[in-house]
Amino acid sequence: MSIAASPSLSSLVTAQIAKPSPIRQIMKMAERQNILAMGLDPANVISFGGGWVNLEAPEEFRQAYQAVVSDTDLFHKSGGYTATLGDMECREQIARFEEHIFGVPRLTAEHIAIGMGSTQLTHDLFRTLLDPGDTVMLLDPTYANYEGQLAFAATGIKVVRLRVLDPETWSYLPETDPDGVAREFTRLFDQHRPKLVLFGAPDNPTSQVVPQALADVMLAKTAEAGSWLAIDFAYKCQYFQTPPPYYAWSPADHPNVIGIHSNSKWARGLGRRLGWIEAATPVIEAIERVQQCSILCPDTLAQMAMARYLKQAIPDGSLRKYIDHANGMYQNAATVTLKAVDTHLQRPRLTPFGGLYTCVDIGTNAEAFVPKALQATGVLVVPGGGFGASLTNGVRISFGPLVRDTAKIEEGLARLGRWMRAQ
Ligand SMILES: Cc1ncc(COP(=O)(O)O)c(C=O)c1O
Repeated sequence: MSIAASPSLSSLVTAQIAKPSPIRQIMKMAERQNILAMGLDPANVISFGGGWVNLEAPEEFRQAYQAVVSDTDLFHKSGGYTATLGDMECREQIARFEEHIFGVPRLTAEHIAIGMGSTQLTHDLFRTLLDPGDTVMLLDPTYANYEGQLAFAATGIKVVRLRVLDPETWSYLPETDPDGVAREFTRLFDQHRPKLVLFGAPDNPTSQVVPQALADVMLAKTAEAGSWLAIDFAYKCQYFQTPPPYYAWSPADHPNVIGIHSNSKWARGLGRRLGWIEAATPVIEAIERVQQCSILCPDTLAQMAMARYLKQAIPDGSLRKYIDHANGMYQNAATVTLKAVDTHLQRPRLTPFGGLYTCVDIGTNAEAFVPKALQATGVLVVPGGGFGASLTNGVRISFGPLVRDTAKIEEGLARLGRWMRAQ
């Protein structure tokens, strides 16, 4: 009898399995079995690791789900397919949401493609825009998932990084040296001719927002060169200062600008997968072709509930009220976090513009620091290196999961600080 050869996985996936996301690795370290294996009591562990929100979704949103599920006909309808780009009424309501909260003008359903959250949409957008060997410009630091997503979307993508954090001074360069960063952007752009420039506003892990002046330079350069400018707005609804004017850029006015949006963070919809792309109609039509092969259609129940909720919550003011309330809660958690960092860690850190994070300079390689700190204190933070080389000696501290339990923020950072000072 011959010995069967074992079938192999693709070389792409094999290479990517060997390069897992560093953040996932850390979150795995915080799993119950590992905590127990470290001799720690899981009940005493305080995690600043999670990139997630913990404020309840709007009650009216829950009721919208309930209304669909409790009605026999509507529930039946929610089990059917919608169009590949999403239900027309939901696309229309999302356009009204953007107009109502951020003043995005002339936005219509034709500018919107609904998907199963921004992770799937970002992957499909990369598929839509990029050819093998293209160059993409990202910030350093930025969201750690982009590199893997680019690798899966097309082969041989070259990534060029624009440094926005100075690890020496721990300053956000677009604020402290706007002309220098604009010059460096232009130099890198002219040298590498990226097909796509992508940044998050506010970004993960810095919670900083690219200022309007730099966004204007990026727009002018990409538009002139025939490149794309994509903005990841996963945390758009969490803002602690007045958002810059580009939060209201419309694809009707800027056909090379693409917005990536998500329900995950503003409505605690992380697991109720729904996101959308805002772009000029040719891009939306192209995404339709890609989504025919990736998801066929977004989740119908999530779209029915969203459309139903927004139809009521925009005119009755409850959407605005919820977003203002959520901002107050996250801003308070940010203030508690910064105060605790300043009191207990006494290390340089970033002041968040919005979002869920701050980054702290720990002055030593964070990859080695984080497991030692967890073992010694039961406090988990995320090492910065996976977000970019500028954060090698930094950690990301997320206050999102602890938004309703800010005493834990104080306790966790006090523990960490005591240990750090004893080193
Ligand atoms: C910058 C950024 N974009 C996208 C995502 C993923 O969001 P979604 O749940 O919509 O896939 C995250 C999640 O942490 C993120 O930080």
